[in-house]
Amino acid sequence: MKPKSQLEILKSGLNAFRPDVPKPDTRLRRLRRTENLRALMRENRVTVDDFIYPIFVEEQAAERSPIGSMPGIFRETEATLPLAVKDVAKHKVKAVILFGISHNKDHSGSDSMHSGGLLARMIAEAKNASPDTLVIADVCFCEYTDHGHCGVLDHNHDVDNDRTIENIAIQSVIAAEAGADMIAPSGMMDGQVAAIRAALDENGFSHIPIMAYAAKFASAFYGPFRDAAGCALGKGASMGNGDRKTYQMDPANLREAVREAEMDEIEGADILMVKPGLAYLDILARLRDETNLPLAAYQVSGEYAMMKYAAQAGALNYDDVMLENLMAFKRAGADLILTYCALDAAVALDKLADHLEL
Ligand code: PBG
Repeated sequence: MKPKSQLEILKSGLNAFRPDVPKPDTRLRRLRRTENLRALMRENRVTVDDFIYPIFVEEQAAERSPIGSMPGIFRETEATLPLAVKDVAKHKVKAVILFGISHNKDHSGSDSMHSGGLLARMIAEAKNASPDTLVIADVCFCEYTDHGHCGVLDHNHDVDNDRTIENIAIQSVIAAEAGADMIAPSGMMDGQVAAIRAALDENGFSHIPIMAYAAKFASAFYGPFRDAAGCALGKGASMGNGDRKTYQMDPANLREAVREAEMDEIEGADILMVKPGLAYLDILARLRDETNLPLAAYQVSGEYAMMKYAAQAGALNYDDVMLENLMAFKRAGADLILTYCALDAAVALDKLADHLEL
């Protein structure tokens, strides 16, 4: 008889010691054995087609300037914006969303309601630079008002909903006339989608879609954006005037988010967005069950900053956590992702593809 091998001795010893451990019939690890098998089994994919890249544009600035709280992101000038948009196209990212940094602010944000204002100019400049790149207009007033709120204030210093949606309708037509391919209202005013749809349709823009910030939460994750866009609310603001909680949603509320989304769909939204991203994946997953409209997730400035700074501190690998986060949005049901990582992700995905082909 052949002498027993080390392994056989070990096995019989283990069996003698724990004789009744059942062996699994179902072995899920079978399908994870090799990279090719895992690729075959992958349920979701992140591609460069999913991304919308936000760009900040500062008027009357001599040079583009780095944004301290968002490493790798710049405030472009109107002169550098065309280069930035061309670079986006070079990375094969299909869409940008523009945020203005105004030096012509007033009570109502009137600069954004003129055809010569920053909103209109930056859209035209981006469109000229790369006509095939989709240029999305974020329509809101916080970047253009001197008080920093997302609309005109009433005598109680709260945002006046119905006057604001009249202004949003004007702002949207201005954006469409300047060449915007899509309108994205982010002010969280009631009735804003219906007001915009009607105004666009009346002015010959029935072909321009609306991507509604359907569920936008009053989030601390917007901190770096407010720094970048210069739209923080005044510190000395009076009671109830120092935050956006009378219009942005309470982070505690899921059912209300579904109602917001339902209203926007009824009012004519073409795409629904959830914002912020990672902390609100449950909202996204729930909306995926509730609607057949395309869904977008906005991975906001604070999420970007967390990944960048953790990576800088050596705690995380930026590329890996970035791709994992982006995949989480796809898995939860997003079709589109607004992300400051878009260009980094395009490069990382390219590298990954090259590596797999080797
Ligand atoms: C407002 C707007 C904000 C963001 C996008 N649009 C800021 C806010 O509501 O305070 C935040 C985006 C980000 O944090 O990346 N128009």
